[in-house]
Amino acid sequence: MHIAVLTMFPEYFRSPLDTSLVEKARRLEHLTVEVVDLRAYGTGPHRQLDDAPFGGGAGMVMAPGPLAEALDPLEGTHRVLLTPAGRPLDQATLDRLAEFESLTLVCGRYEGVDERIAEHFIDEEISIGDYVLLGGEVAALVIIEGVVRLLPGVVGNPASIANESFRDGLLEEPQYTRPAEFRGLKVPEVLLSGNHQKVAEWRQRQRLRRTMQRRPDLAADFPDSEDDD
Ligand code: ADE
Repeated sequence: MHIAVLTMFPEYFRSPLDTSLVEKARRLEHLTVEVVDLRAYGTGPHRQLDDAPFGGGAGMVMAPGPLAEALDPLEGTHRVLLTPAGRPLDQATLDRLAEFESLTLVCGRYEGVDERIAEHFIDEEISIGDYVLLGGEVAALVIIEGVVRLLPGVVGNPASIANESFRDGLLEEPQYTRPAEFRGLKVPEVLLSGNHQKVAEWRQRQRLRRTMQRRPDLAADFPDSEDDD
């Protein structure tokens, strides 16, 4: 996969792209990332990228000219604008984005981008949650990380992806590792029993219970998920 990131702050991406599985994916050439400095497309002596909104109001708007020039060579890639006004990101969206050969992530700043860019130069607008950040850079990193771990060969054990939170609409069950007793705190007995059937039933009950307690919005799809332990 190739990802182009359009940003006013290229330095934002340096260490995250050189760390962890993202670094591994780039080293193994599952992923190439090109960070494009939008400032290079700015106009005037200050390489300006923003302008006052037509109709008045507070804040500035990212002007269409520089963005269009930066996006022109990326036609044919799947172009995503990160904005709090976008559709909320979820696992299904990441699964879908991971299928593209070429993604372009446009990091908005200021009060937003000129709507003509959003309408004619962008394929979809995505938000990472109902809160407002300084710009789309963190959201772009969220997408890169969420997509990279889905690329074949990046995560060691593919089963760990197939069986995780949100894949079946439920949160993951709690996990424990050695020691079986830590500062007087014991691991649930059933996990030490060696009874695979009982362990599987316990895990499913825990997934339902957690989801009902923490994410009743997700649990609404499971009407017979009575907590029985
Ligand atoms: N830019 C600012 N806030 C954002 C958000 N919540 N999601 C995506 N891009 C953003």
